[in-house]
Amino acid sequence: MKTIDGRIELGGIPVERLAEKYGTPLYVYDEDTIVENYHRALAAFRKHYPRFRFFYAVKACNNPAIAAILVREGAGIDAASVNEIQLAKDLGLGGENVMFSGNFLSDEDIRKGLDSGVIFNLDDIATLRRVLQFGKPEIMSFRVNPGYGRSNVGEFVTNAGSNAKFGVHPDKVTEAYRLAKEAGISRFGVHMMPGSCITDAEYFPFVTGLLMDIIGKTGRELGIKFEFIDIGGGLGIPYKPGEEGLDLERAAQLTAQIFSQKSAEYGLESPLLMMEPARYFVGNAGWIIGKVHSIKDSYRKIVGTDVGMNTLCRPVMYGSYHHIYVNGKEDSPKEKLGLCGQLCENTDYWIKERELPSDIAEGDLIVIENAGAYGFAMSYQYNGRLRPAEVLVKKGKSWLIRKREAYEDMVANVKMPRHLKKS
Ligand SMILES: Cc1ncc(COP(=O)(O)O)c(C=O)c1O
Repeated sequence: MKTIDGRIELGGIPVERLAEKYGTPLYVYDEDTIVENYHRALAAFRKHYPRFRFFYAVKACNNPAIAAILVREGAGIDAASVNEIQLAKDLGLGGENVMFSGNFLSDEDIRKGLDSGVIFNLDDIATLRRVLQFGKPEIMSFRVNPGYGRSNVGEFVTNAGSNAKFGVHPDKVTEAYRLAKEAGISRFGVHMMPGSCITDAEYFPFVTGLLMDIIGKTGRELGIKFEFIDIGGGLGIPYKPGEEGLDLERAAQLTAQIFSQKSAEYGLESPLLMMEPARYFVGNAGWIIGKVHSIKDSYRKIVGTDVGMNTLCRPVMYGSYHHIYVNGKEDSPKEKLGLCGQLCENTDYWIKERELPSDIAEGDLIVIENAGAYGFAMSYQYNGRLRPAEVLVKKGKSWLIRKREAYEDMVANVKMPRHLKKS
């Protein structure tokens, strides 16, 4: 994002032009930012541990065009469902380039997952027993809950520790791998995902140490080799102005250090170190352009826009902050205002009070920052307010990568019983 004479440009295109061409609300992603984010992170980790690889957790922004950028740059795909496995396949990835990290899988998930031949990353021992009724994955890992989790929005997104639904309890990890080994599985990896949006570099070596101590003992006891050790996503980005970002170099250096040290201590023979971030690659590469419809002077002044909790649900779901710019008015005096979308739910009044330009007016364009991760992917249709379009920009060019939903999309799967059809 660049501001020239107060006007905002995304990927070298003025936001007025994007809004005029594609309408609002509109998700916009910058290809160059995604590529830069990916390579900055890859270089940092490979510098300290060359046998390192990223998988992209496609759930954060599942537009195939965005995933295609990361696949082109060399990432594998972390899939949460069989549909995300299919998405990876459509991009030409399969086998050991795709990891299936679902939880509480259905029989159909298991069957399709096995057929696809991807890495099975199981969330618990109970699922292993069910998987073995259908077949044997070539390579398998367990998601370990190392007993500690952290997130920038507190409990809401804490994916490990005693309150999390995810992963195998540390005391059950050896039993899990023993059962898999006894079933004839011979190739193993291990996985964890204890943190979300972490900007504290020390967190990464800390959780890596926890995992290595758990699986180091398991490896020794069972005589199994871990081909890869995946320490999850969680590389954080700053959301608030002035907030400090992650010192990636330090995170990478300290993580590689503890990883190498513990690998040697437990005789783990330099496994592949993996991570599967998403937010770090796409978060700051995505924006929402919205429009101010009208301004209501009530108990407070409320700016009514076309960006509701259906367009971006993170603020309402877990109180997360997204910075908002008003195109052409960033130098205006500020005033505390509310801001909302158009839904018939009061939670849609998603900013109760924020310093915004006091001359904000009908027709102004707002630009919401850091919307590339868990933005469109979590959007929904409520009140017939349908999902926005998505556009990719790069060096002054733009491509529509998902069209705006229309009424036909809202009713696409509806079947009307004959007795209710209008004669
Ligand atoms: C299993 C798994 N891996 C990776 C990620 C990506 O996390 P992040 O976007 O914080 O890097 C998630 C996000 O929830 C996840 O559940």
